[in-house]
Amino acid sequence: MNHGALIESFLGYFGGSSEKIRIFKSPGRVNLIGEHTDYNGGFVFPAALTLATTVVARPRQDRTIRLIATDLEVMVEADLDNLQAYRNLKWGNYQLGVADELIKAGYNVIGCDLMYEDKVPLGSGLSSSAAIELATAVALVSLGDEEYGKSKQIDMIEMAVISQKAEHNFIGVKCGIMDQFASAMGKKDHAIFLDCRDLSYELVPVKLDGYSLVISNTNKKRSLGEGKYNERRAQCEEGLEILKKVIPEATCLRDISCEDYEKYKHLLTDDVIRKRVEHVVYEDQRVLDSVKALKEGNLILFGKLMNQSHDSLRDLYEVTGAELDTLVDEARKQEGVLGSRMTGAGFGGCTVSLVENSKIDRFIESVGKAYKDKIGYEASFYISEIGDGGREVEVMA
Ligand code: GLA
Repeated sequence: MNHGALIESFLGYFGGSSEKIRIFKSPGRVNLIGEHTDYNGGFVFPAALTLATTVVARPRQDRTIRLIATDLEVMVEADLDNLQAYRNLKWGNYQLGVADELIKAGYNVIGCDLMYEDKVPLGSGLSSSAAIELATAVALVSLGDEEYGKSKQIDMIEMAVISQKAEHNFIGVKCGIMDQFASAMGKKDHAIFLDCRDLSYELVPVKLDGYSLVISNTNKKRSLGEGKYNERRAQCEEGLEILKKVIPEATCLRDISCEDYEKYKHLLTDDVIRKRVEHVVYEDQRVLDSVKALKEGNLILFGKLMNQSHDSLRDLYEVTGAELDTLVDEARKQEGVLGSRMTGAGFGGCTVSLVENSKIDRFIESVGKAYKDKIGYEASFYISEIGDGGREVEVMA
């Protein structure tokens, strides 16, 4: 919806006047490579999308926060001084979790009405949740202190960290920092090469010279709350504990090099733990190699690394499944495809493929048909456009 229509819809839900309304936006992301490395202190290489969550916000005079979305009918209403009482809502958890963490961090969170328009497909592995979190964080912080946006800058890295804490403490998913960081710090036409150990980062221009990143959505809904995600994280921690006996200075799996792994893998006697560690160690190296390849314009090498990443997530980390594997297998059969892999946590969600521009229509048609034949329902396709991170947008009626 354009801003005029959004404001009209907001007033339809909440009444009152448009005088103090402000609009904020934060995007979803696609990860180019580096999966399940973030919570192991490793490297990731995501880019923010132009698909985003928009939030229309207006302050209130009391301590109530009210939430609605353009595609919902039931409003969530919560007391800012008692947020813990609202855990386990069907919708609204991410927003209230962020409010809770902002209050804990000392921000002045004031009562407000918030209406969301979500353009990031929910549960698709494109970080719809981080988009909601960051849009909420920027909105709440801006409403609570009018200096933000005028003389003060919002610390977007802090917003990412606070949003990640909301996932840990309010939602119960022990996610890494990648999604929130990408949603907060994304830059148009750039990918973020992020070191998750100290949050240092570099914006790398994504110049694909005749190629595009095509996102294919399995349309298989999944939720990270189901436990598989936290289970993978625990397995990595178990692997680290064992390797620490021979590499005591290691604080996370990122500190284990490929050479270390080959030298000491015999200590990982549990095959599952060994596979998880092997994935993480080599995936970190693939991120470094991919950043170099993209900087040098070596798309063929980048495509190969994407393929290796998927195969490792399928065989070693075991987070793909029939839907993602079918999309990837079919993509790789197409002419003009340099690489294809799952993106995000896995267990459903999306893949990303590097496809020659002139072959995209054919790609969508053939992969779409083969997927429908094998899986029984449709996949959806989007051409990635890389956009900016979370921010306030000027209201244009
Ligand atoms: C989810 C998590 C991220 C990251 C990815 C896997 O998107 O939120 O922190 O761990 O899975 O790379």
